[in-house]
Amino acid sequence: MSGYFIVFEGGEGAGKSTQERLLAEALTGRGVTVVRTREPGGTPAGEEIRRVVLSPEFAGLDPRAEALLFAAARGEHVARVIRPALERGDIVICDRYLDSSVAYQGFARGLGPVRVRDLSLWATGDLLPDLTVVLDIDPAEGLGRFDQRDRLEAEPLEYHQQVRSAFLTLAEEDPRRYLVLDARADVSVIAAAILARVVADLDGDDDGAQG
Ligand code: TYD
Repeated sequence: MSGYFIVFEGGEGAGKSTQERLLAEALTGRGVTVVRTREPGGTPAGEEIRRVVLSPEFAGLDPRAEALLFAAARGEHVARVIRPALERGDIVICDRYLDSSVAYQGFARGLGPVRVRDLSLWATGDLLPDLTVVLDIDPAEGLGRFDQRDRLEAEPLEYHQQVRSAFLTLAEEDPRRYLVLDARADVSVIAAAILARVVADLDGDDDGAQG
């Protein structure tokens, strides 16, 4: 595949959507086609699944059922949106992906990171991002930016602390495919760091590093 797949991860309130928008604008300005999408969701079926997994109505949802629903939405998303875009040579910017399942369901929910990762790899035909940007923030601070909380945001602070350390651990294990930034820095400073890394990756890697 000739495209380039960028994922944004981080805790609640880390400012992902602002940075995704700024990166998309910067890349579009350079003449590339950018597809912006999100998980859970990104397809009609995926958005329905999103409604179920995030709804406080299903407060006691079984953790395994939850993990399967996220993986199902992801499989559909890759098949219908992400893989076709990468095959066309587009840049895909996705809000959350497989590492969110590893962090939230695998680590914080206790289902085990390896199993949860394998489930998503199976669902997606082994599609991994070229670059994952982790916007790191202390959950006590990030959650403070919300009034209304969905089912997962309403989890206790320790849950979100486990999510945070999971992202940092994943990034440490594979620094070539991750960029970790302090989400408290200036919006423009963060945006410049992300763009510099993406441009360097694209310039240094003509085949897009898919695989
Ligand atoms: P969303 O409102 O998109 O949150 P954010 O703006 O923080 O991305 O809600 C997504 C929620 O779902 C968020 O709490 C993280 C969680 N999630 C998982 O638990 N597992 C997953 O695989 C994904 C993609 C998200």
